[in-house]
Amino acid sequence: MTPDDAARPRPHDGHRAVVGEAFTPAEEAAMRAALAAAQRGVRGANPVVGAALIDAAGTPLHVGHHRGAGTDHAEVDVLRQARAAGTPLGDTTLLVTLEPCHHTGRTGPCSAAILAAGIPRVVFAVPDATDTARGGGAHLAAHGVDVRHGLLADPARDLNDRWFLAQRRRRPFVTLKLAQSLDGRAAAADGTSQWITGAPARAEGHALRARADAILVGGGTLRADDPSLTARDAHGTPVESQPLRAVMSTGPVPEQARVRRGVAAGQSAARPGASGDDGRFAHLPTHDPAEALQTLRELGAAHVLVEGGPTVSAAFLAADLVDELWLYQAPLLLGEGSASVAPLGIGTLTDASRWRSDPVGLPEGERPVAGLGEDVRWHLRPAPRETVSPYRGLHAATFDRTVTGTPAPQDLTTPDPAPHDPGPSHADLPGAAQHCAAPPRPASAVAQQPYAHPCAPRGA
Ligand SMILES: NC(=O)c1ccc[n+]([C@@H]2O[C@H](COP(=O)([O-])OP(=O)(O)OC[C@H]3O[C@@H](n4cnc5c(N)ncnc54)[C@H](OP(=O)(O)O)[C@@H]3O)[C@@H](O)[C@H]2O)c1
Repeated sequence: MTPDDAARPRPHDGHRAVVGEAFTPAEEAAMRAALAAAQRGVRGANPVVGAALIDAAGTPLHVGHHRGAGTDHAEVDVLRQARAAGTPLGDTTLLVTLEPCHHTGRTGPCSAAILAAGIPRVVFAVPDATDTARGGGAHLAAHGVDVRHGLLADPARDLNDRWFLAQRRRRPFVTLKLAQSLDGRAAAADGTSQWITGAPARAEGHALRARADAILVGGGTLRADDPSLTARDAHGTPVESQPLRAVMSTGPVPEQARVRRGVAAGQSAARPGASGDDGRFAHLPTHDPAEALQTLRELGAAHVLVEGGPTVSAAFLAADLVDELWLYQAPLLLGEGSASVAPLGIGTLTDASRWRSDPVGLPEGERPVAGLGEDVRWHLRPAPRETVSPYRGLHAATFDRTVTGTPAPQDLTTPDPAPHDPGPSHADLPGAAQHCAAPPRPASAVAQQPYAHPCAPRGA
């Protein structure tokens, strides 16, 4: 074992050290139930979060979860159930996989809802270090709630590892959708690709669109397919909340292109800086995926769905800018035509881009790899960084040179900066220092203390 290995946090060390000291077995069981419930949410603009309520004897009362941006947070889902069932809350403990939020976004602050409900003890797994939502734990503690954290922190961090990463990098969460033949092709030799997959897979694709803030394709897809990039329900009717439609191309987007036109039924507001007849089209004249994401973030997108084609998909993959992957494989062979992903600059198997099954966001009882009509659907997320080659950065650079002809901006001798991504922490958020000078404490020490957020004003 190298000194580096010894210093690297090992999974579960944290919670083993604290269970039995700071937390009861009933609290651990409830947090496990909350973690399982969180998986019933969907990935995107918000993290997946679960919550559970137990009474003073440790009896499980209610379990809830967050169903995606704009819906109740997990804590509020549990409180709603408790209210409906008439559950007395005066001697209960609420367990949450992420620190309760302290801001008003599309929904109100969970910290206020918990205080109003009169819950005396809150245990959360990991802090919410985002600029907008942080501070819920400190607010509750300042108002007399017994607040602890650190229980099952490792699995909770792992559950949302890519969402935390996107937050730290201040970019939207990115979902990639690929549809391909058995032999991994996205289009036939003549460029036709509609439709490779069957109706159930296409319906699921529309559901993905409906929960994204923006859909992005490259100039090749624009030229080959003239897509409209609208979100429709199972009957083909446009859904009310329409995503932004984005094309990443240094070429022109013709005035008559469908992507410039919104849907008549769409209720979504125009975005300042966007164009198109509904003010929800964005032409991104760049080949740099990070720049494209930055522009979309400025247009208000927190969740971007990349729908290809192969060149653009490869650019996002090579830059490690894909957080979630839905891959649909249809039972047909093409023999020729574009591969669904353009070259990634991977020359040998050990450098492969590796993925793991993701059970989050699937219909009840479905597995991450499952039949969907005649097709097979995979739901995947990037494998943890320690299983990925330290030369991963090289792929982006190689790709950049081979595909775009632009010299790589990064230093190729610099290894991947985060062999083990520790999840959210105050210290590594840009701008954290000016808010918070307190050094992070080890998880076991933190977990045994009543929680006081280091940024909280004294006595607030
Ligand atoms: N099966 C599927 O699900 C699916 C999905 C989408 C597309 N397709 C098929 O894919 C085919 C098109 O493939 P494609 O690879 O040309 O499509 P693409 O990835 O949509 O577009 C590539 C184009 O995007 C621009 N671009 C943006 N970022 C780039 C980067 N980092 N490097 C280089 N170029 C970049 C360039 O256009 P500019 O020169 O204009 O800048 C480039 O020619 C079509 O046949 C389409 O039907 C299939």
